[in-house]
This record gives sequence, C-alpha cells and structure tokens, in this order.
Amino acid sequence: MKTSNLSPLRLLFVSLVLVSPPWLLAEEDPEDQIKYRQNYMKAIGGHMGSANQLVRGKVDRQGHLMRHATALTQLTKDLPVLFPEGSDFGETDAKEEIWSDWEAFEQAANKTSKASAAFANAVQSGNGDAINEHFKDLGEACKGCHKKYREEEE
Ligand code: HEC
Repeated sequence: MKTSNLSPLRLLFVSLVLVSPPWLLAEEDPEDQIKYRQNYMKAIGGHMGSANQLVRGKVDRQGHLMRHATALTQLTKDLPVLFPEGSDFGETDAKEEIWSDWEAFEQAANKTSKASAAFANAVQSGNGDAINEHFKDLGEACKGCHKKYREEEE
C-alpha cells in the first residue's frame, strides 16, 4: 500500500505555504492598502451612524448601542496601522501630512481610541448624560483627525 505522495521536501513546501510567514508574503499593493483603509473607515462610519440613531432615540434596539460601542472600541484600537508608508497616492483622501507629521497623527488616533473606550464605558453604565457626552467627544475625535489629515470632500 502506498503511504503518501508527499516527499519530505514537498511537505516542507506545503507547510510553508500554509503557515505563510510574513517574509514569504508578496508586497502589498498600495491600491489594496487604500481600499482596505477606506472600507475599514466605512465600517467605522456605519457603526457611528447607527449609534447616532440610537443615542438620539430615533430607533430603539435592545442591546445594540453596546454592540456598536464595542465594535468602535475594537476598530479604533490601532488606526495608524491603516496608513502604511507609501499608501499616500492614488485614489485616496489621505493627506501627505499624515506621514510628515506622524507623531501628531498618532496622537489624533490615540485620542479616538480613548474616546471610543470612554463611550463604551458610558454605555455600559447606562447613564444617559454620560452616553451623550462621550458620544459627542468621539464624534469630535473623528472630526479632529479628518480636518487635519483628510482631503475635504468637494
Ligand atoms: C487618526 C485619523 C483618523 C481618525 C481618528 C478617524 N479617521 Fe476616518 N479617515 C481618516 C482618513 C485619513 C481618511 C481618508 C482615507 C483614504 O481616503 O484613504 C478617512 C476616511 C473616512 C471615511 C470615508 C471612507 C471612504 O473612503 O468611503 C469615513 C466614513 C470615516 N473616515 C469615518 C470615521 C469615523 C466615524 C471616525 C471616528 C469614529 C473616524 N473616521 C476616525 C482618518 C481618520
């Protein structure tokens, strides 16, 4: 009976492909990095939009505000990762200042992740005033970064 077709060398090759260590991955295409970043931002925007409706009491969905707050906390954790060097040309609204002013950009991102966490804490606490206040702070943190680092929409 034949035990296996896989020679040790082939096995090694197959396991390398399966594990895909970063040094074997092809370079990322800047267009893909931009597309990924924009889709990711859209997801954040979606959660903010739905949360806004809930906070304003336009709709009432039991437990949903916490879902959005949790998602926003996760999604805003490390925003600078979305901006690899070289992803600054092509179909992007990201401004050059992001890379020339990297530390301040990181601070804008940090502020947002802190604001998300504070918003989630407020939602957890169930205190309406705190929820309103921290939701507003979070919205302002988004705007603060967009104002400096994102091309104005026509
Ligand atoms: C640290 C900076 C920064 C923070 C914080 C930030 N953004 Fe952005 N956002 C950007 C940049 C830069 C772009 C443009 C990206 C591009 O076009 O490549 C963008 C794009 C977007 C877009 C448009 C995506 C598209 O192309 O369709 C939305 C929506 C968005 N952000 C929502 C938000 C929301 C909501 C928050 C807050 C919860 C937020 N962003 C926080 C920097 C930031």
